[in-house]
Amino acid sequence: MLFWILVIGAITRIDCYFSEEKNPEESKMQPPTVVIAIIARNAAHSLPYYLGALERLDYPKDRITIWAATDHNTDNTTAVLREWLTSMQKFYHYVEWRPMEKPTSYPGEMGPKHWTNGRHEYVMKLKQAVLKFAKKRWADYLLYADTDNILTNPETLNLLVAENKSVIAPMLDSQTAYSNYWCGITPQGYYRRTAEYFPTKHRHRLGCYPVPMVHSTMLLDLRKEGTKKLAFHPPHKDYSWPFDDIIVFAFSCRVSEVQMYLCNKVRYGYLNVPAKPHQTNEDDQINFVHLQLESIIDGPPMHPSRYIHLRTKQRDLMGFDEIFLINLRRRPDRLDRMLWSLNEMEIDVKVVDAVDGGALNSSDIKLLGVDLLPGYYDPFSGRTLTKGEVGCFLSHYFIWKEMVDMQLAKALIFEDDIRFQGNFKRRLLRLMEEVEKVELDWDIIYVGRKQVKPGDEVPVENVRNLVVADYSFWTLSYVISQQGAQKLVNAEPLSKMLPVDEFLPIMYDKHSNEKYKAHFTNRNLQAYSTRPLLVQPCHYAGDPEWVSDTETSTIWDDDSVRTDWRGSHKTLKGSAPPSGLQTAYRDEL
Ligand SMILES: *[C@@H]1O[C@H](CO)[C@@H](O)[C@H](O)[C@H]1NC(C)=O
Ligand SMILES: *[C@@H]1O[C@H](CO)[C@@H](O)[C@H](O)[C@H]1NC(C)=O
Ligand SMILES: *[C@@H]1O[C@H](CO)[C@@H](O)[C@H](O)[C@H]1NC(C)=O
Repeated sequence: MLFWILVIGAITRIDCYFSEEKNPEESKMQPPTVVIAIIARNAAHSLPYYLGALERLDYPKDRITIWAATDHNTDNTTAVLREWLTSMQKFYHYVEWRPMEKPTSYPGEMGPKHWTNGRHEYVMKLKQAVLKFAKKRWADYLLYADTDNILTNPETLNLLVAENKSVIAPMLDSQTAYSNYWCGITPQGYYRRTAEYFPTKHRHRLGCYPVPMVHSTMLLDLRKEGTKKLAFHPPHKDYSWPFDDIIVFAFSCRVSEVQMYLCNKVRYGYLNVPAKPHQTNEDDQINFVHLQLESIIDGPPMHPSRYIHLRTKQRDLMGFDEIFLINLRRRPDRLDRMLWSLNEMEIDVKVVDAVDGGALNSSDIKLLGVDLLPGYYDPFSGRTLTKGEVGCFLSHYFIWKEMVDMQLAKALIFEDDIRFQGNFKRRLLRLMEEVEKVELDWDIIYVGRKQVKPGDEVPVENVRNLVVADYSFWTLSYVISQQGAQKLVNAEPLSKMLPVDEFLPIMYDKHSNEKYKAHFTNRNLQAYSTRPLLVQPCHYAGDPEWVSDTETSTIWDDDSVRTDWRGSHKTLKGSAPPSGLQTAYRDEL
């Protein structure tokens, strides 16, 4: 007995002894467990970016299981996915890998982008299989993310978890009006247009909203009771809506009384607009390249995985003798962006240093033989030429001169602040082929400009998407022939300079100012334009990012007068020159 009292006494004393010391803190909770479902088909082009985004998610990898399936591929999807999983499996909690090499298509399929019922059913079964897998492993969350959804925001998973919803999707941006949610659904289960869709898409309203449909990327909270009943396959016994996995799942949520939510509070990432049923993997890839180009302008840009070997691009000159990119040295950001974009499109360019108007003083300008066109005033502001405009003119002029000296038959010219339309390369190649086929006699073809009266322009026979150019502004991009370069150089424009985008319309005789025109005798430039235009400016005046190097500099012949033409009407979207303003301004000055 005494023995026990002693022992208990000793233990009590030990307890007290410890409690006087600092207790170790209770250890932290580990983050919830997540299964990420990767279901890939013919996605070799987007996978490096898709997987790059997944590997950058700011979430402990040892709390993530990857479940990856791939099948029915005609491209390199299996190899790319295998390469990534092989490197990454040591970081993740567990990797489940379900490749299927054969067959490479579904019965009755028109092409790899065609969704037959068989394909819908197979995808439903895969999505059901991963749901079952996640539940069986007691995963807290299941993240579905289609392989053309690039979650560039590394916080996406944390942000979705923090919303504490059963089914929630991050709104993804695309090249078009398309996104991964619907705000309305018809009684038959089809898409219904609603007033909420665009304000949400354009982020005019911000938040997390209940919606009848989210798809492509969504997070399921499997700890919530409601999600126990959710299923992709087989469809619910009362199901009579279209046989499509996203609609089946939306219906399942509805009958299980689980509300789907869509969040657009921040930018989470992108989704590539799906290729049409008759299109090919290559079309899908072209759309994806366009999305990448947009992502580098609007941000945040996509980055490929560090664990995938990327194919090197095969750049070419698209059949031109030279492709010039005019870049101002002090804008290396634009050069990087352009070179990156052109590399993605596999276009080779020669970078030419723009003449930096801002660095020229008025005596330099005069030494170059530059003189102002008598009586020239900017139609909007009433100012004369700026040094930026002189620099811009000289930059273009030196290229025309090089073309003449080097006897280049045809060249393509880009300025450095442009946005490419989808499928730029293939569209321009096809256009040039048709121009050649009909033996059109052309000097210059605008690829990007500001049209003033687009409705009035006459289409060219037997060439799709080509019109005779009417008066226009800007020289964002154009194709020019040897004959065209000669005509422009022979006009001796340096000694009677006006902005280059006003000079060209004079040379094709579509300028309305007779006095300006009178200084140039041979106004026989044969000017055409693509319609639709294949490039646009990156930013318009008034956009927060907009800075013009030609319109924000000092007046050409006076270094002391600083002009700041930011917001000049000439660069405003959809503006036309006010008629009669030219003379009014001149009188005032
Ligand atoms: C397919 O992908 C693997 C892994 O990234 C790569 O090593 C291989 O060169 C690719 N093959 C083709 C034809 O692109
Ligand atoms: C999350 O939602 C559940 C109801 O589904 C609620 O019980 C719980 O308290 C919520 N958690 C937080 C942290 O708000
Ligand atoms: C203009 O700049 C040149 C160097 O580019 C310099 O030699 C010249 O003195 C400058 N002239 C004036 C008037 O500042």
